Amino acid sequence: MNLILLGAPGAGKGTQAELLVDALGIPSISTGNMLREAMANGTEIGKQAKHYMDNGLLVPDEVILGIVAERVAQPDCANGFILDGVPRTLAQAEALEAKGIRIDHVVSIEIDDSVIEGRMTGRRVCSKCGASYHIVANPTKVEGICDACGAEVMIRKDDTPETVQKRLKVYHEETEVLKDFYAKRGNLRMVDGDQPIKQITAEILEKIGAKV
Ligand code: AP5
Repeated sequence: MNLILLGAPGAGKGTQAELLVDALGIPSISTGNMLREAMANGTEIGKQAKHYMDNGLLVPDEVILGIVAERVAQPDCANGFILDGVPRTLAQAEALEAKGIRIDHVVSIEIDDSVIEGRMTGRRVCSKCGASYHIVANPTKVEGICDACGAEVMIRKDDTPETVQKRLKVYHEETEVLKDFYAKRGNLRMVDGDQPIKQITAEILEKIGAKV
């Protein structure tokens, strides 16, 4: 099963992707995490992405498409994958189609902009594996330490209120149009993102017809 998770910054894509990996047994591909890792490792892609990410802008399509095409061709994606945060533009969605990458369900996690700021100010992310937590809604078991890999958690550099506002603007201007794109193809599933985390996972699994 090949899935896309769509949604505004802070909608809960990363949080749901981690839970769906466990429920469905397929890997999650987060372009945000891949780019942050590239930046941390000082690779050429990381250097190209830094300016855009620090300023809440989208990284150019050609950079994104290269890393996604390479990742979905890996053997662990043979039975399916979850795309978290990609595609983000019409050009990216069209390019995935042109490459013959089949998409079964596109889950749009719907959330009002007014909820986002509280989520971002409380977010903590793992400095190593990228797992996402919230100091109130989804805290780590041991304060400051990732449950999944034991590394330290930190505040993301692009979670300042000003950068979050820019990211939201970019979402509404460039990404939201993808809901129409996939609705026309008959594979858009809308999910209410303003519910407890586990309830959202259950709604997603029901809407994609997954037997778990
Ligand atoms: P990326 O890392 O993809 O960030 P994003 O899309 O802005 O999404 P976030 O990671 O901020 O939010 P999320 O929806 O995953 O929410 P989360 O689950 O963490 O991208 C970062 C940057 O990389 C972009 O700005 C761009 O520069 C670049 N980039 C990446 N992909 C790109 C692409 N395809 N094209 C071009 N550029 C690209 O949840 C947020 C918080 O809320 C957490 O604290 C969480 O614990 C909490 N939470 C989650 N669910 C709930 C709930 N139900 N109730 C209460 N709290 C909750």
